[in-house]
Amino acid sequence: MKTIKWIVDKHVNEQMDYPHISQAAEFLNNNEVVAFPSETVYGLGANAGSTEAVAKIFEAKGRPSDNPLIVHIGDRAQLPALVKQINEKAEKLIEAFWPGPLTIIFEKKEGVFSDKVTAGLNTVGIRLPDHPVAMALIKEANLPIAAPSANRSGRPSPTTAKHVLDDLDGKIAGIVDGGATGVGVESTVIDCTAETPVILRPGGVSKEEIESIIGPVEIDAALLNGEGAPKSPGMKYTHYAPDAPLYLMEGSPGKIQSLVDDKRKEGLKVGILATEESKGNYSADVVIPCGSRKDLPTVAQSLYDVLRAFNEADLDMIVSEVFPRDGIGTAIMNRLEKAAGHRWL
Ligand code: TXA
Ligand code: MG
Repeated sequence: MKTIKWIVDKHVNEQMDYPHISQAAEFLNNNEVVAFPSETVYGLGANAGSTEAVAKIFEAKGRPSDNPLIVHIGDRAQLPALVKQINEKAEKLIEAFWPGPLTIIFEKKEGVFSDKVTAGLNTVGIRLPDHPVAMALIKEANLPIAAPSANRSGRPSPTTAKHVLDDLDGKIAGIVDGGATGVGVESTVIDCTAETPVILRPGGVSKEEIESIIGPVEIDAALLNGEGAPKSPGMKYTHYAPDAPLYLMEGSPGKIQSLVDDKRKEGLKVGILATEESKGNYSADVVIPCGSRKDLPTVAQSLYDVLRAFNEADLDMIVSEVFPRDGIGTAIMNRLEKAAGHRWL
């Protein structure tokens, strides 16, 4: 299959006539899959009501079928037709964070979604992305759009159109290229069907921000202690891993450098995931800065690009600095721990 590339201006707005967006929307209406940018990462979209369309997502990604997809809407007005009820806490979260990187789990209405979207669950995760291209495309298609991150399963999520094409060129009908995404890590997933809402995946909206709006929430215990099955099926899979094994290491650049020196003396080729502040302190086969420690959102923005960049060098191991676990740091550390398979030095 030849993948069509539509290059669009990130600042597309509804008043403009965008033939590229209309064409991409037509593909979605014809049950083809199309990748598009959101404010978090690129998504791989398909008509959420069509099993034929949704099957193409699982096929292209090589995604396990028990892992449900997030449904994206282009406008809040689309929501009531999709879910059984919107309780008070969900209402407040929508008011505060939509459009934005927050996926809310609701009880689904029957007969709206292909069973493949929800992987047989009676709930559905919905979000309204804060990206003009995503919103314009979804509104134009006038459908709820199921969209996981547009990477091959297990690989880091894509934050540029190039990342998507590296994984999926020739496997999808098209991609709308709207430039690099902003947040860089995926949306926070929160289950609002329980009395006390539960965060199933940390992401672009922090626990602290959520609690400032609706009071105390829980974090899925499986994410904290790694025990038991996570409530979000996707969280149990290996994900984000670069080709060479990644290890996390606490401590000063000096301490990290001396370990790296030892490994290189053994003949290993070593990469270091550093920051703008620390990169000058290291010598290794590859040193890649991942944003600034003083500004954690920049670390989130660069993370997946950096994890992919290590694959360009033929390394035996990668050692990564670690980050404080508050605000967006919770999501950064969650992704790094997954990428490292929870290996620490
Ligand atoms: O930022 C994002 O959320 C991106 C962009 C494209 O919107 N999408 C994304 O989708 O990250 P995906 O499929 O890669 O991750 C969806 C996560 C998975 O961990 C999945 O298991 C979980 O959400 N999920 C989806 N529906 C669920 C449900 N009904 N109950 C529990 N977890 C659910
Ligand atoms: Mg994903």
